[in-house]
Amino acid sequence: MHISVLLEEAVRYLNLKDDSVVIDCTLGYGGHSFEILKRIPNGFLYAFDQDKEATGKAKARLEEAGLNFEIINTNFKNIKEEMLKRTAKVDGILFDLGVSSPQLDNAERGFSFHKDAPLDMRMNKDSKLSAYDVVNGYSFERLIGIFYKYGEEKYSKAIAKAIVKYRENKKIETTLELAEIIKENVPEKYRRLGHPARKVFQAIRIEVNNELEVFEIALRDALSLLKKGGRICVITFHSLEDKICKQIFNEVSSVPAELRDLPVIPDEYKPKFKLIANISPSDEEILNNSRERSDRMRVIERG
Ligand SMILES: C[S@@+](CC[C@H](N)C(=O)[O-])C[C@H]1O[C@@H](n2cnc3c(N)ncnc32)[C@H](O)[C@@H]1O
Repeated sequence: MHISVLLEEAVRYLNLKDDSVVIDCTLGYGGHSFEILKRIPNGFLYAFDQDKEATGKAKARLEEAGLNFEIINTNFKNIKEEMLKRTAKVDGILFDLGVSSPQLDNAERGFSFHKDAPLDMRMNKDSKLSAYDVVNGYSFERLIGIFYKYGEEKYSKAIAKAIVKYRENKKIETTLELAEIIKENVPEKYRRLGHPARKVFQAIRIEVNNELEVFEIALRDALSLLKKGGRICVITFHSLEDKICKQIFNEVSSVPAELRDLPVIPDEYKPKFKLIANISPSDEEILNNSRERSDRMRVIERG
């Protein structure tokens, strides 16, 4: 079961009316979408997810809340193209980034360093690049690069070196094989600070799904799809995603630095968006759902 994070807050901040038109960019198993649908009996929900397993299951769940929805089984980087085929502008857009608990719990998807499975980590099973290709095919330098950039892993070099050495004898086939190589090649004290494979697994997952680049494209396009008064809520799972969101939201909600000292800001340079919220989950939710520890939600509104 996937426990949806920041459920109440996200739905409240979307500021829904009964006829709102909403996009959920990350349907998953439909936790947020279900609550959204209940609140928009005369509106419409477009729900994106690139994972066919998720969209298959979410459909039946959503039908219990209403039939005024369409599931769009594609990467949300296509949001603009897909929405322009369907409707003009929308009242609310939600991103709840990362993997879902069922994706993590289903060992065969290869996301978890706790469960043995072939190295996969593709959210879209039709896409080409898998974790296996990254781990067995990337050069030493490229591995270090992604471990630093996407995992902020301080032992990137030692881990990449160990992977390359291991590969000289045999391919790295499974999640636990990789987790063990990582564990063996970080200092003993580092192993006590949570699982030593966590950051490298995160880095590989981001690389496999091209998560940061795709999110940046989609968020900028999402801003262009909002009606006046419409809102975007973004729930991020780690600081790299949050940094992108924060930077884009700050950029579109402020006057360009070089014009800030002008006595009167010309209309075309006045920001078109305003920041509404930047919140961490409530303590109660953190206790109930450990996945939430690093989640954060940012909300912006088209003025
Ligand atoms: C954290 S889960 C969403 C959970 C959902 N809000 C719920 O309450 O059940 C994130 C979902 O987004 C999907 N996803 C992540 N990146 C995506 C992308 N670029 N395009 C489409 N779907 C994506 C994943 O497949 C996953 O199902």
